[in-house]
Amino acid sequence: MTRIILIGFMGSGKTTLGRTLAKETGLTFIDLDNYIELRHCKSINQIFAERGEEGFRKIEQSLLHEVCEFEDVIISSGGGTPCFFDNIEYMNRQGTTIYLEVPHERLLERLIIAKSRRPLLKEKSNDEISAFIEEQMQKRSPFYSQAAHSFTADRLEDKIQIKESVEKFRKQFGI
Ligand code: S3P
Repeated sequence: MTRIILIGFMGSGKTTLGRTLAKETGLTFIDLDNYIELRHCKSINQIFAERGEEGFRKIEQSLLHEVCEFEDVIISSGGGTPCFFDNIEYMNRQGTTIYLEVPHERLLERLIIAKSRRPLLKEKSNDEISAFIEEQMQKRSPFYSQAAHSFTADRLEDKIQIKESVEKFRKQFGI
């Protein structure tokens, strides 16, 4: 039974890499944010607006427990998932956690383009996003570093890079 759990900051490529990996390996891809949205019939932005981050984290934990029971899956968690409650310990018990490591500048480039569907970023200027990454990384690194493995995911900018990164990932982890 395979259960791979991708963790990493927003914009680290958990969804991009996970989806392509699943296609190539025949595993089922589950994106936790997407699962939450479908279950609650609401966008992540709406859930944050209605229940605040605290309410979102409770929902996130509860649905994490659901998806981490599924078998033969690649799960893409949310950027904050491993950093709340005992989620990282739980994820490590349930599957193979892999941290996607991406340098600050690359994260910033990606997040500037894709900030609108992320409640923690959507109101921020580019400079504020950069400061946010810096500050959050310091808080979150102790959690991310508890992943069983890590993978450098700085090259996912076009189809060719995604294909190459997926090949590298498969070789590195033997899947
Ligand atoms: C969050 C990351 C998002 C989503 C929510 C909060 C975070 O997921 O769960 O907006 O706290 O880093 P992605 O990492 O998939 O963007």
